[in-house]
Amino acid sequence: MDSIEIKGGVPLKGEVRAGGAKNAVLPMMAAALLTNETCRFTNVPKLRDVDSMCMILRQLGVRAERVQPHTLELEAIDESPCLAPYSLVSQMRASICVLGPLLARRGRARVAMPGGCVIGTRPIDLHLKGLRALGARINIDRGDVIADARKLRGAEIYLGGPHGSTVLGTCNVLSAAVLAEGITTIENAACEPEVEELCRFLKKMGAKISGIGTKRLKIEGVTSLKGAEHSTIPDRIEAATLLVAGAITGGDVFVRKARADHLAAVIDALRQIGVKITEEANGIRVTSNGKFKPMDLTTLPYPGIPTDMQAQLMALLAVADGISVVTERIFPDRFMHIAELGRMRANIRKEGTSAIVIGVKYLSGAPVMASDLRASAALVLAGLVARNTTHISRVYHIDRGYERLERKLARLGARIKRLKT
Ligand code: EPU
Repeated sequence: MDSIEIKGGVPLKGEVRAGGAKNAVLPMMAAALLTNETCRFTNVPKLRDVDSMCMILRQLGVRAERVQPHTLELEAIDESPCLAPYSLVSQMRASICVLGPLLARRGRARVAMPGGCVIGTRPIDLHLKGLRALGARINIDRGDVIADARKLRGAEIYLGGPHGSTVLGTCNVLSAAVLAEGITTIENAACEPEVEELCRFLKKMGAKISGIGTKRLKIEGVTSLKGAEHSTIPDRIEAATLLVAGAITGGDVFVRKARADHLAAVIDALRQIGVKITEEANGIRVTSNGKFKPMDLTTLPYPGIPTDMQAQLMALLAVADGISVVTERIFPDRFMHIAELGRMRANIRKEGTSAIVIGVKYLSGAPVMASDLRASAALVLAGLVARNTTHISRVYHIDRGYERLERKLARLGARIKRLKT
């Protein structure tokens, strides 16, 4: 198992490029099940989650090939398999995205229930509610979701739960409704840029969707879809993580491809914390003097502060000059990083769904353990500013969602290396 070693204290300087968005490409890959023609994706990041989705799609009769390092071709050559087994689904929750397309195109699906993970319980009741409204019969048997539908019919669907809209739930229902008979409206649809991107891709395939980017999607079903080509949008979470890396080290970093229109809430938070953010042509520059003001922040559905940036911003606030309150509204239990940051001398206390972050003068490098993707990113950021050496184990979590993070940071001057064991 690889680990990462960081000797902190170097202000990062230079330019780095944000890659394609993991959370945009995964549902689009699943949508390739909606046709037997070839779908081609460019700017696809080389990540473990993308590989896991390829494995699931292969199991479902899809030819999945990286024809170039960042170009992926998918073609459903055998449309009879309908089983996504637990051994593959358990590696990545986003595999639930195949449920809607399978049902719409093949009329049946057996997909293992993804179960919980370290960031919380992560139910799929809204996915199932939406698909049932379209006419699917759904049962849970021996840990699998078993769904079938001779014909899906358009319906009016409200997709909201106790924590607001659902990103992958919207993707799933949308990807089924495109082939349903008649009109579907999804109320309280998630409006994250990744959902918008799926809509754009489905439209290229021939789907009829309006209200893209809003909370009310209207889908007019069509009888078939064709293959399409699409370039993946830049990863807003990777971009924001790199901006925090520049900020926390008191550096000067230009993140090429970072899109300010996707990052308004994060940019606003960084400015409140005292970091200088400048929008430049084709990217965002961060400059910081290494002194940070505390702030209270709350994660919210888009366009609010993304839950996927909560841990990284907490690492930054851990070295701010004062007390901050970080409230998690999407995944109330997503606080595994608190204990590990504590090993690095951070002073953070969990109070219900909030964390009270009492800024400290410095963090101290320590052996720490990555627990999930974004928590691991927070530990890397803390390691970049900590005194002495930080050693992060279980970095396979980072590889799920950041392509060669340590190389990108090393090019900016960080003393960081991957240790192979
Ligand atoms: N929820 C329900 N019922 C459902 C579905 C969701 O109650 O059927 C709840 C969840 O428990 C949560 C809230 O609704 O409280 C929002 O969850 P959502 O469904 O939006 O999350 P997701 O679609 O499973 C995606 C991203 C996550 C990201 C969340 C929120 C992908 C592959 N995953 O998950 O990304 O945190 O949206 O923005 O797109 C990550 O990249 O590290 C990551 C976890």
